[in-house]
Amino acid sequence: MTSSAPVESTAARAPTRGSIQVEPLTCVIGAELGGVSLADAARDDALFAEIKALLLKHRALFLRDQDITRAEHVAFARRWGELEDHPIAGSDPDHPGLVRIYRDLNSPPERYENSFHCDATWREAPPMACVLRCVETPAVGGDTIWVNMVEAYNRLPEHIKQRIAGLRARHSLEATFGATMPMEKRRALRASYPDAEHPVVRTHPETGEKILFVNAFTTHFVNFHTPDNVRVGQDFAPGASLLLSYLISQAAIPEVQVRFRWRKDSVAIWDNRCTQHYAVQDYWPAVRKMERATIVGDAPC
Ligand code: SIN
Repeated sequence: MTSSAPVESTAARAPTRGSIQVEPLTCVIGAELGGVSLADAARDDALFAEIKALLLKHRALFLRDQDITRAEHVAFARRWGELEDHPIAGSDPDHPGLVRIYRDLNSPPERYENSFHCDATWREAPPMACVLRCVETPAVGGDTIWVNMVEAYNRLPEHIKQRIAGLRARHSLEATFGATMPMEKRRALRASYPDAEHPVVRTHPETGEKILFVNAFTTHFVNFHTPDNVRVGQDFAPGASLLLSYLISQAAIPEVQVRFRWRKDSVAIWDNRCTQHYAVQDYWPAVRKMERATIVGDAPC
């Protein structure tokens, strides 16, 4: 945990310690919290500890009516650790670490990228968690879906679990965010942010649970081509890509998901080590503005 200086509050708030209301949203992931202000949690060790424990249990937490300042948003996220910027999405100039995810008429629909993903698995140490606040939402549409990737792993057939144990995979910023860039720019991106390699099944550092850890940033397995997996040379590429596609497709199964409808000042907090998410892009040309504090994590193992 990182200590943070007290921040100015936007309004007087009733004490919330010990009074968090918790309403699970599905049987497998997500809970809505009531009776709590994240501005208070930024200053209050016990309240923060309660939220931290709830995040480990529910994996994604949702709060309404968080009329907090950007400084309070950052201060709350900093309780978990350092924040990171994003090399392509810009951050708020006055609040480093608060990434702006703004969509409007200048981001036409063919440039709206999306897919199920964990944030920034192209880093050697991807983020451990994120705190996302809705600044402006379309009248309808623009929901976000989260997926429990522990449950996705648990539901795999036993022979698949055996097959993927020990496999490792490459994750790439170049092949995703860089794909529309001219070659020189893409190569420069890759030089600054080289691909990362992670286990296909990672272990949650706090709960010890196994997590299916491939997503839209994953390009290929790096150690698939062994005598156990390959009969003849031709099996290598199709065998590996079919297995990877199957694993990536697990995030699209509704039974392991929760879908959240945003309102202004709604906040989502997710454990990025064991979830994936998908921001549904069904609202263009309406405006959608989100701000995300992204907390630095550890190298998966
Ligand atoms: C993200 O992909 O981190 C942002 C999700 C969203 O905008 O709902």
